[in-house]
Order: sequence, then structure tokens, then C-alpha cells
Amino acid sequence: MTILETMTTEATDAAIDLDRRHVAHNYSPLPVVAAGAEGAWITDIEGRRYLDCLAAYSAVNFGHRNPEVTATAHAQLDTVTLVSRAFHSDRLAPFCAALAGLCGKDMVLPMNSGAEAVESSIKVARKWGVDVKGVTDANIVVARNNFHGRTTTIISFSDDDTARRGFGPYTPGFRSVPFGDAAAMADAVDENTVAVLLEPIQGEAGIIVPPDDYLPRVRALCTDRNVLMIADEIQSGLARTGRTFACDHWDVVPDVYLLGKALGGGVVPLSAVVADRDVLEVLHPGEHGSTFGGNPLAAAIGSTVVEMLRRGEFQTRSTELGAHLHSRLRELIGRGVVEVRGKGLWAGVDIDPVHGSGKQISTMLADRGVLVKDTHGSTLRFAPPLVITADEIDWAVHLLGEVLAETA
Ligand SMILES: Cc1ncc(COP(=O)(O)O)c(C=O)c1O
Repeated sequence: MTILETMTTEATDAAIDLDRRHVAHNYSPLPVVAAGAEGAWITDIEGRRYLDCLAAYSAVNFGHRNPEVTATAHAQLDTVTLVSRAFHSDRLAPFCAALAGLCGKDMVLPMNSGAEAVESSIKVARKWGVDVKGVTDANIVVARNNFHGRTTTIISFSDDDTARRGFGPYTPGFRSVPFGDAAAMADAVDENTVAVLLEPIQGEAGIIVPPDDYLPRVRALCTDRNVLMIADEIQSGLARTGRTFACDHWDVVPDVYLLGKALGGGVVPLSAVVADRDVLEVLHPGEHGSTFGGNPLAAAIGSTVVEMLRRGEFQTRSTELGAHLHSRLRELIGRGVVEVRGKGLWAGVDIDPVHGSGKQISTMLADRGVLVKDTHGSTLRFAPPLVITADEIDWAVHLLGEVLAETA
């Protein structure tokens, strides 16, 4: 008997009905109504508990309501939360100094959502092209099957028809080449190229890890051709893959890091463009901004997140438990699982479609108390909070095995 069958669904049904009537239908959530969360666990409106193996797409890397993060948030709520950038705050510069230090860079442009960080980096790269490189008709090379967010400019260079269709006219100035193909990237770069923008490991595409020589070759290309290498580490960064940044796996240092999601500790939206002075100083007063960008509450939380990352314990957990997760998932290859990819506590699991769609398998897992998210039809994404334990991983994989056996 599954947990859904043991409990009433009255409150869930009412909540989902209200949702359907008043929340725009731009998502298709699983029928779970979260009402509380702690560590790696979510509790729903009926009191059922679920192991969260999605972690809000890596925004909850440090666990739901991480005590260090919430202590900072509580303290900051009692001092000052928002002054806008019309004034300085005592929280912003220390946060930016700490984050720049973590990245080995000089400066930070604080924003809120991930998409805003990506948008901001596109503006910075174009301005850098004009001011520094002397390019007026700039182009930016991106990777096919990318996911960088949902703004009009960002979807303009997406290959996802659902994300694009009906939202034109699109922003020009982008060239898309296959992810993992450094030669195609080199062919696409010309004298008007100001930046290469890519995810070091593609998340939404299904946790796609590139060939080992890819990022080093892109790095060398960008250096040779005076092009900014922009690494979107919004989902892959901040300990998710076992290193502070996914680029670290290949000893690659991009010119620009884009960070978001976990930077806000799972409490506030906080994103950042991080680069050296010669790049970020192309922005002058009035040329870019955001009312909430770098607000004291977010900056205080961001400082705590940087401090936690400096200690390295989350990177170590992700490496060790990630090895465990991958080896347990690989045991299911041939028993409903076709392939397992990823690094650290981040796994893309391709399910044999004869067992059902990714959405169907996710729904059956939710029914048993494990929350994962499907992507691209038949891939499941495992990205639990990094506070998950080995026993909890075993339990989740055991239940996946059970679901696959039942659907065989
Ligand atoms: C790699 C990457 N970039 C950007 C974004 C956009 O972030 P946000 O949803 O906060 O705008 C995402 C979100 O999933 C992402 O995975």
C-alpha cells in the first residue's frame, strides 16, 4: 500500500483546486502540497513526509531551513532588510568581497534570479565588446540544448520549442553549436564574438557531462581569440558536483561566473555575476540595476553561504555521497535504467520508456515518499539536498527499483 492510499487527500485536493483556479498554469507540479520542510525532508499539507531528491533545482543545496542560514536571516530581519542601491548597506560590500574571493575574482554584480544574472552577463559582455574589444555588431556563442532561464532574450537562443513558441520576436546576436564540440565552437567564433556562454554540465538537458577536453579547449579558445568565457554555474555550482564550481573538475577558470539558486541559501533569491575588474568595470552608474539586487537580507545570507562553502564540508559530502548515489543507481542499469550520468550528488537517470514517462515514474515515486523531477521525457533528475544521508539514498534508490519492477 502506498502512502497516498493510507491518508486522506481532502486538504490536498482543495489546495490543488485553488491552485488551478488562481495560479498561472506555467508549471505542471506533482500532486504534493508542501507545508513544511527540514533538512532533506518535505512535509505535505496532510502531514505526509517525502524525501526531497530535487532540492528546488539545487537552490536548497544546504538543506531546507539550514540552521546557519536561518539564524542569519532571523538576525538580519531584525536589523535592516532593504534600502535599494540608492544607499550603501553594511552587508553588501562584505558579501561581494567574500564571494569574489571564493571565485578568485575582483568584483560582484548582485542580482536576484538566475535569469537576471544571465541577462546581466549578456549586457556586460556586449558592453565589454564595445568598450574594450571595439566590436559594434556583437555575437555570443552558446551551446545547443542549453538552459539559462526564461526571459525573452534567453529563450531567443534556446532550442526548446515549448519555451520559445509564441514568444517572438526574438533577440538576435546568438549562435548555437553542439554542446561538447570544441571544434564547432571554434568555427563559430569570429572577430565579432564577445563571449561564449555555457553551462559546464548541462542541467535541464539531463545532467550532460561534456568530454574531458571540452572545457579546457573552450578556455584556450576564449583566451586566444579575446572572447569572454562565461560559465553559468547557477545549477552546477556551489558544491552540487562535489567541487565549489563544476569548472573545477577540469581546472578551468572562466572569465565570468554566473551564480544563483543555492547562493540564497534556499531562503531568498540571490544571484551574481562575478568577474575581474577589467570586465565588470564596463558598467557605470545608471547603466544597469535592480531594486532588490544585493539587498541587506540577501547579502547577509549570501555571506553565510560563502562561509559554509569556504569550509568545504558540503563539497566533501557531495563527492562521497555522490559516489554512493551513482553506484547504487548503476545497479539498476538493465532493470529499467538505461544510463546514469552526472557528478557528485547530481544524477541524470535515463529510464527505459517501456516503463513509462519520466513524469509517470516521478508520480509513482512521490506516491511512495520520494520527490524527483523528470526532464526531457524519460530522464529523472536526482539532486537531493547535500545533507542527505547514505541510508536515505539507499531508500530512494530501493523505491525506484520497486517502481521499475512494478512497471516492467
Ligand atoms: C543553468 C541555469 N541557468 C539559469 C537558470 C535560471 O534561474 P532562475 O530560475 O532563478 O531564473 C537556471 C534555472 O534552472 C539554470 O539551471
